[in-house]
Amino acid sequence: MTIVSRTSDLIGDTPLYELARTGTGTRLLLKLDHLNPTGSCKVRMARQIIDEAEQAGHLKAGGEIIEPTSGNTGCGLALIALERGYRFTAVVDHHAAQDKLRMLAALGAELVFVDSPPGGGVASVRRRAVASRLATERDAFHPDQHNHSGNGNGYSSLAGELLDELGGVDVLVAAIGTGGSLCGTVRALRAHGARTRSVAVEPAGSIIFDGAPDVYHQTGAGSPAGFPVGRNVVHELIDESHQVADADAFACARVLARRNGMLVGGTTGGAVHVALRRLLDYPSGSTVVVLCNDTGEKYLESVFNVDWLRARDVYDEPAHRRVDRWLSAYADSVQVAQRDLRRRASA
Ligand SMILES: Cc1ncc(COP(=O)(O)O)c(C=O)c1O
Repeated sequence: MTIVSRTSDLIGDTPLYELARTGTGTRLLLKLDHLNPTGSCKVRMARQIIDEAEQAGHLKAGGEIIEPTSGNTGCGLALIALERGYRFTAVVDHHAAQDKLRMLAALGAELVFVDSPPGGGVASVRRRAVASRLATERDAFHPDQHNHSGNGNGYSSLAGELLDELGGVDVLVAAIGTGGSLCGTVRALRAHGARTRSVAVEPAGSIIFDGAPDVYHQTGAGSPAGFPVGRNVVHELIDESHQVADADAFACARVLARRNGMLVGGTTGGAVHVALRRLLDYPSGSTVVVLCNDTGEKYLESVFNVDWLRARDVYDEPAHRRVDRWLSAYADSVQVAQRDLRRRASA
C-alpha cells in the first residue's frame, strides 16, 4: 500500500467490477471512477485543466477560478484549488443535487446561485453567462469545461488504466455532457491502437444528438434546449448514441444499489441500462466497459428517494423489475454455458 500526503494523489487507479457476463463470453465491466476523491471521474479533468492553465500562465499564485457547475466539476476544481492555494467560486442553481452543493461548500468553494424555472434548461445557460461575467469582473480564470482541452486530456490516465488492466476495450459506454470523459478516453485508447467502439448515452430530452428537447432530471449529463454544445463533444469519435428516460436510468441505479450494493448516480444508471440492453448485440467475447461518472451518495435525497421520484413522475416499478430480470438472465446464461463446457470436457 502506498502512503500519500495529498488527496489528489489518490486520483485514478480505480477498480473494475464485473456486473454481467453473457453465455457467449461478453463481459460487462464497470470502471468504478466514482471511487475517486470527490466521488466522481470529473476530478481527473479538473486537475488537468488547472495544470494546463498554470502552464499557459492563466493562473497566478493566489488567483481565483470561476466555473458554472452542476456539482462534480466544481468539487474537482475545489479540491485542486484548495491544495494549490487558489480561491474557487462555483456558479450553481437550485436544481443541483443538494448533497453536491453541500460538498462544494465543505471543500471551501464560494457558491453563487442563479435562479431559473424547473427543468434546468435556462439554468445552465444563465449559469454560464454569470460565470463568464464574474470572471471578467474579478480577473479570474474561467475554465469553460465545455471547450477547454484539459477536459478531454484529463482522461488519458483513465485510458491507460483500462489498457493496463484489460489490454483493450471493445466497447466503452458513458453518459455524455461536456463530452470530455467519453471522447477524451476513447481518443486516448485509440491513440494507443485500441479499436474501441464508443457509445454515448444522453437523457431523453437532451439535444446533443438532435433529439426533441424536453425536461429531464439526470443531472450532469445531456444538454438542454438552448445550450450550445461545446468542442469536447467530438462527433467523429462517437460510434453510437442512445437516449435513456429518467425512469429507466434511475431504476437501474436503484437496482444496482439493492442487488449489488453498488451506489452509483443516475447518469451511470442510464449508461448501464443502455449497456445491458445492447450487450447481446456486440460480438461474442467482447469486453464492454461502462464508466461510472459519480457516486450514488450524492443522490440519497433524489434518485434514492421514492417521494422525490414520484413528485417528478419518474418512479416506475416495472422498470426496476426489468433491470433485475436482465441481470438474472445473464447470470443464468453463464451458468448454462459453463454447464455445457463441463459436459463437453467430460464427454
Ligand atoms: C453525474 C454526471 N454524469 C455524466 C456527466 C457527463 O460527463 P462529461 O461532461 O465528461 O461528458 C457529468 C458531467 O459533469 C456528470 O456530472
